[in-house]
Amino acid sequence: MSETPDRQSNAVTRKHQAIAVVDFGSQYSQLIARRVREASVYCELVPWDAPAERFRALAPVGYILSGGPASVYEPQAPLIADHILNSGRPILGICYGMQALAHQLGGKVARSVRREYGRAKVTFVQPHQLQTGLPATIDVWMSHGDRVERLPQGFTSIAESDNSPVAAIAKDGIIGLQFHPEVVHTPLGKELIANFLIEVCGCAGDWTPSAVIDEAEGLVRQAVGDGRAICALSGGVDSSVAATIAYRAIGERLTCVFVDNGLLRKGEADQVRDTFAPRFGQQFAFVDAADEFLATLAGISDPELKRKAIGEKFVRVFEREAKGLERCEYLIQGTLYPDVIESATSDNPAAQTIKTHHNVGGLPAQMALKVVDPLRRLFKDEVRVIGESLGLPEEIVWRHPFPGPGLAVRILGEVTPERLAILREADAIFIEELRLAGLYRSVSQALAVLTNLRSVGVMGDGRTYNNVVALRSVNTDDFMTADWSRLSYDLLAKVSSRIVNEIPEVNRVVYDISTKPPATIEWE
Ligand code: XMP
Repeated sequence: MSETPDRQSNAVTRKHQAIAVVDFGSQYSQLIARRVREASVYCELVPWDAPAERFRALAPVGYILSGGPASVYEPQAPLIADHILNSGRPILGICYGMQALAHQLGGKVARSVRREYGRAKVTFVQPHQLQTGLPATIDVWMSHGDRVERLPQGFTSIAESDNSPVAAIAKDGIIGLQFHPEVVHTPLGKELIANFLIEVCGCAGDWTPSAVIDEAEGLVRQAVGDGRAICALSGGVDSSVAATIAYRAIGERLTCVFVDNGLLRKGEADQVRDTFAPRFGQQFAFVDAADEFLATLAGISDPELKRKAIGEKFVRVFEREAKGLERCEYLIQGTLYPDVIESATSDNPAAQTIKTHHNVGGLPAQMALKVVDPLRRLFKDEVRVIGESLGLPEEIVWRHPFPGPGLAVRILGEVTPERLAILREADAIFIEELRLAGLYRSVSQALAVLTNLRSVGVMGDGRTYNNVVALRSVNTDDFMTADWSRLSYDLLAKVSSRIVNEIPEVNRVVYDISTKPPATIEWE
């Protein structure tokens, strides 16, 4: 599959102020970018050693330097490029970013006597725009082993902590923070970052939903020209928003294909059809391929084999549909920024395949479709806001993520129509009760699993030997790590009781209290 030129360059029709978040390898770099976007300011994460042209193309009005694992006094330590230091633009250095500023501007950084890690209180001792509207003392999160021992010339310490007289430094628009304003453990960190953007950099906050939609539409129009495009619509928020934007951009030159693979949740296929058929009219194609998928899955129990079989089948069905479309050269996808960042930086051939993720974008090279990703600069929370402003229904915008292989990876062992029917009911009960309890939006993902266990039970006076259903609900920011949701016993009791009473094939319900890692979110 080839890529549009736009995928490699930043040559989008961007008209907004931008901030460059210079990535020194901190685990929090993406969080910094999210905080900036939350302040309605566009930003991109750029590696510290990216060529100067990459920064120039972005034309940043200010820079934020991330933290990082290195020590500035090490020989190979990453440094701030001269073009940034000489740009005359405001710079905010966070943790390592502050140490690099101090080191490169003539100050002294050395190892602290002890590593400072965890919550601390920081007091501003000099008035500064960064503190606008904030109390003098704030709670912050520290995580550093090095500290600034001598300030560079012209800098003053504007804040102190109990452990250090240098918790923040500044000289005009160049500011360093020893703590991490981007993490939730710095409760007013978001406001600090917003102050940097608005008070120091003079940002107007012009990255608004309507601006984002305009830009994404422009991107589709520019990429597709007068050609035709296809979009694989799964009904999840990402592909739904991508399809809606593409439809606004190129209208009837777009065809959205929704494949019912028979592995969807209760009522899901109808819901997607009811939502999108009226919106896209003739441009919406509903493909009922349930029998084909189930036939392919017959006799397969191994999780990876299931995933591969489904991925392959999807490709074949999609190819067949695409063949009927004349002159279709482009594929619209709902790929988001975190995936783009990860694929751009992941250079680790040794990385293990935990699971073969199949999503609707996993289409074969020989289809020779050029990929257009109108959401490739957006985070999930931004996509949800855009989905709302595009008028998509709440069930789509706030839908929990659902894996490409669907319920097949929530049925341990062979997937059969009977087992799908059991799981569909159990899942629907769980989700309905979560909604009734007002918790659906506050947990990140909830699901039921049909295990391959049977256990003995008693029903009336009789012995039963029936299926075990597991419930899983997790809270997570990024789905890379996750914690199990502390659902109330009352809610779990209600769900359990409804499942065993309403589904005769189930006599036992368990709740999964595993974190990720070591478990994953899905069971297969
Ligand atoms: P795991 O189970 O790996 O899941 O902890 C992390 C997130 O990814 C979703 N998931 C998938 N999404 N295709 C997808 O599009 C897949 O094959 C797939 N497998 C897992 C999962 O639901 C969770 O949100």
